[in-house]
Amino acid sequence: MRDKLEVHLHTNDSCNLKCIHCYNESGEKPICNMPESSRLLELIKYFCAEYEAEIHLEGGEIFLRTDLLRQMNCLPTEILQCLTITTNGTICTDDSEIIEMLCRIHALRVSVEGHTDEQQRTVRGITLDKVVKNALFYMESGIPVWLRLTMTNLNAEHLLDETLPYYMRKGFHRFQVYEFQPVGRGERYGDLLTVEDTLFFSFLEKLVMWKKENREDDLQLKIMLPAARREAVLSYKSQLKSNRLTVSEIATENGISIHADGSVFLCPWDNEENHCILNVYKNGMGHMEDRLKQGELKHSCYYCSAVSIVC
Ligand SMILES: C[S@@+](CC[C@H](N)C(=O)[O-])C[C@H]1O[C@@H](n2cnc3c(N)ncnc32)[C@H](O)[C@@H]1O
Repeated sequence: MRDKLEVHLHTNDSCNLKCIHCYNESGEKPICNMPESSRLLELIKYFCAEYEAEIHLEGGEIFLRTDLLRQMNCLPTEILQCLTITTNGTICTDDSEIIEMLCRIHALRVSVEGHTDEQQRTVRGITLDKVVKNALFYMESGIPVWLRLTMTNLNAEHLLDETLPYYMRKGFHRFQVYEFQPVGRGERYGDLLTVEDTLFFSFLEKLVMWKKENREDDLQLKIMLPAARREAVLSYKSQLKSNRLTVSEIATENGISIHADGSVFLCPWDNEENHCILNVYKNGMGHMEDRLKQGELKHSCYYCSAVSIVC
């Protein structure tokens, strides 16, 4: 049996936005690395051949790399099914090869920061209209679209009673919510964005009360929270369960994060140069293979998701 491996693979540092919470500090790095498409495809094929891989392709903004997206259409569906792609949704393409490829991936996550222009503008510097229009276009094209929300102190209060219903009325039914972590550029905005404990507890209370009739049968909601929230969430486990919400502790799995310059880290949130375990583009694939086979790749820290609530 092959080992499980979660891979965060950064395809570029360039981004057309400069979101204040960006853990990757995309769009303002001194050098914008852009690995060749062939190298990225080689990595994807390698991980899928050697591991039971779950690969997250994250930019910068991957839709600035239409060359890569087009070439990915050559990958077989069983490989594409291991891929989750995250985009800021500002760039729309109707290129048939890209659409065909996106229809075969596991998930296309489109990031939004709430349901109001003010929420979106504060974090992402843009309004929502184009992003929502593009996300709907992708969904109507048969692509498995999930809306990816970062829960912050600015949107937690009305996430359940306003934000989700707003998007459900527009036809979206798959949502992933991750709590904001003060990492990268986000560290500078921790005071503004970090969810206060009282607000988090009231979010849990609302989740318990969240009426069944508010939900459509095909609604899929996944809330991912770090270890600091474990105790609070577990204390609500039975109440959440009776409201058809499943609480699970997330086992520490093997994982790596490959930055656009090729540096490999164990933690997707980690940007500390001295924590880099190797550089796949400088040291070569063979070196990476040896290192991964020898090494302990299990990791968990303050920022990693440790508990999930799923509907
Ligand atoms: C780094 S972004 C890159 C992908 C794409 N450019 C985008 O904007 O979605 C990947 C996801 O991480 C989220 N994210 C960025 N910084 C974060 C932070 N400090 N805490 C939690 N989520 C964060 C973004 O909202 C986005 O959904």
